[in-house]
Amino acid sequence: MSDIQSIQWFPGHMAKTRRKIAEDIKLVDIVAEILDARIPQSSSNPVLREIIRTKPKVVLLNKSDMADAVQTDRWIAKFQREAVRALPIDCKTGKGIPAFYAAVKEVLQSQIAAWEKKGMKGRPIRVMVLGIPNVGKSSFINRTIKGRGKAEVQDRPGVTRQNRWFSVGKGFELLDTPGVLWPKFEDPLVGEHLAFTGAVKSEILDPEGLACRLLELLMELYPQAVNERYQTGISPSDRLEGYEILERIGRKRGMLVSGGQVNTERAAITLLDEYRGGKLGPMTLEQVI
Ligand code: G4P
Repeated sequence: MSDIQSIQWFPGHMAKTRRKIAEDIKLVDIVAEILDARIPQSSSNPVLREIIRTKPKVVLLNKSDMADAVQTDRWIAKFQREAVRALPIDCKTGKGIPAFYAAVKEVLQSQIAAWEKKGMKGRPIRVMVLGIPNVGKSSFINRTIKGRGKAEVQDRPGVTRQNRWFSVGKGFELLDTPGVLWPKFEDPLVGEHLAFTGAVKSEILDPEGLACRLLELLMELYPQAVNERYQTGISPSDRLEGYEILERIGRKRGMLVSGGQVNTERAAITLLDEYRGGKLGPMTLEQVI
């Protein structure tokens, strides 16, 4: 088992991908940066932000079905204060996708007017879809395709798994990119939050340690939801350590080994699976106060 802080997240293919994205950004008009609505801060990759720099951008808070709606609204308002157009989407149902097209047109309004002036009316808007692994890039592209008729991967020179174009109709072309993580998480909480949501594979991490830290955070933010799901009867003022909460959960679920001890590893895996599956209800781990 490795410690989250000591893991190097930048294998060779990631460096290559980053270079490819930096090249391809010249081919697009705008970037759709997909974030995880449950962890908008930790799912925003500083390496990608550096590549995007001055390119027009729309931020999509995906998996909004699993996030706290009040918090999602606050995040959108926060982006707005920073002059960034952001909107919630849910690629499981397609909610928010029509608003995405409208937002892109709004952000590129003057560019589109300039094209029309030059006689380039109807020029397709080229969008690069960026995001960390598992944030929902493929689901987003599939959703846009579903809503807009049949998409084609265009037969253009140099098209590889690394850069696939999808013509999604109504004047939009999407450029798919592989997910990129960054060299080192400066803040260990970032790594942890990515592991809670499953963006970082937890097989290489200690599930019990991870579950304990998740429980402590959830007891701070959503104690009622934890108690409702696991019937642990714990009050945040009890200030129990994560391990004690995990033991209570395991006991409640009958996860015992010989001698009546709780199988905390099993309880940890169950908790992480259920959290990731949204079974504890909509929750946002990184909150705007
Ligand atoms: P990626 O291309 O960025 O790597 O992500 P991908 O679309 O493969 O999505 C990763 C996982 O997140 C998938 O679940 C997908 O179904 C889920 N997902 C994507 N968008 C949303 C959303 O808005 N809401 C919810 N609740 N889930 C979303 P999976 O378990 O890996 O696959 P599957 O069993 O759902 O097919």
